[in-house]
Amino acid sequence: MANKNLNAAKTAKKDEFYTQMADIERELQHYWQHFANKVVLCNCDDPYESNFFKYFALNFNQLGLKKLICTCFDGSPVQGNELLLDFGDFSDDPKKVAYKVEITEVRDLNGDGAVDLADVQYLLKNDKNAISLLKQHGDFRSAECIELLKQADIVVTNPPFSLFREYIGQLMQYEKKFLIVGNQGAIIYKEIFPCVINNKIWLGYGFKGGAAHFVSPYEDNATASDHKEGMIRVSGVHWFTNLEIPKRNDPIDLINKYTSEEYPTYDNYDAINVDKTQDIPCDYPGVMGVPITFLDKYNPEQFEILGMCENMDLYHLKTKMYTTEECRAAYFKKFGKKGTYDLNASGVIIKNGIKEKVYSRILIRNKHPQTL
Ligand SMILES: C[S@@+](CC[C@H](N)C(=O)[O-])C[C@H]1O[C@@H](n2cnc3c(N)ncnc32)[C@H](O)[C@@H]1O
Repeated sequence: MANKNLNAAKTAKKDEFYTQMADIERELQHYWQHFANKVVLCNCDDPYESNFFKYFALNFNQLGLKKLICTCFDGSPVQGNELLLDFGDFSDDPKKVAYKVEITEVRDLNGDGAVDLADVQYLLKNDKNAISLLKQHGDFRSAECIELLKQADIVVTNPPFSLFREYIGQLMQYEKKFLIVGNQGAIIYKEIFPCVINNKIWLGYGFKGGAAHFVSPYEDNATASDHKEGMIRVSGVHWFTNLEIPKRNDPIDLINKYTSEEYPTYDNYDAINVDKTQDIPCDYPGVMGVPITFLDKYNPEQFEILGMCENMDLYHLKTKMYTTEECRAAYFKKFGKKGTYDLNASGVIIKNGIKEKVYSRILIRNKHPQTL
């Protein structure tokens, strides 16, 4: 890839990460039952570049879709290439056109005996009703895109990372079913986590090893063994959804039993600390602080989520707020020098008289703790 392309990418907002077909297929295989007779919207997807469009166009008949709508954004610095991804004219002369594609059937249009990508290309070239220009830039927040959103039953895409809060907020506002890619860390955003607590958003099956390789014009910092040509490796990405999936009914196998030595109680929450999801004690009836990775295994029949350890006490679970003086004293005791240990930002356990902050924790309760 030419350097000028990389430089242009650096100055742009870093939202150009194109999802691979294999990743889409691996996740979507678990959701097929949801799509029969449904209108699917991919609203951050240039049909000529997006594998989401390609996936739904190619599986249109097998999924039994009613309609596929794709819209693309004219702000994309790489928009306007052909179905095969190619960032050739990334910085020089991007064709900035926003348009939508609407498909209500996919047939063997070229008469070669198969329904495949060639038919989709044929359709886009020959059916004037299939493609039309958008007037408002293709921004998912624009009035015309919102009209399309209203028509949709299920929204499936990888939206711009930089607008994730707004994007998911809009889906919730219009009460849409969705399956979207996002940074796993977004699950604890204060706008999103309450939806997780209320079982309105959960995590899908996920990417291999929690990381994805996206086709992208940006420079890749992955180690040589993880590097793939023309791609960028992004760790901590996941699928966010509100579509029912079998995974949600799988309980976590709990083997460990509670002991006060192994599971210390926080100094600032009425809860015990659990360092690994698989170590959740099967018999503890009270509140437990577990790592965020728990959400990947969360079964709402087995557990309820109450909140998380965080600064603002948004979930009203703190039993104490430390004073500035206490934070300074804790820092001095732990590190032997002046400073402030922000004890209010997390759960705190006391080890050998020293206050220790614990990594991010979600506070949960087992709905059916073992009693024997
Ligand atoms: C992470 S990329 C993913 C592209 C495609 N969905 C895929 O998975 O291959 C996000 C896309 O959203 C586009 N985008 C950025 N801001 C947007 C907006 N306000 N409305 C719609 N699309 C936007 C970007 O140009 C980019 O192409």
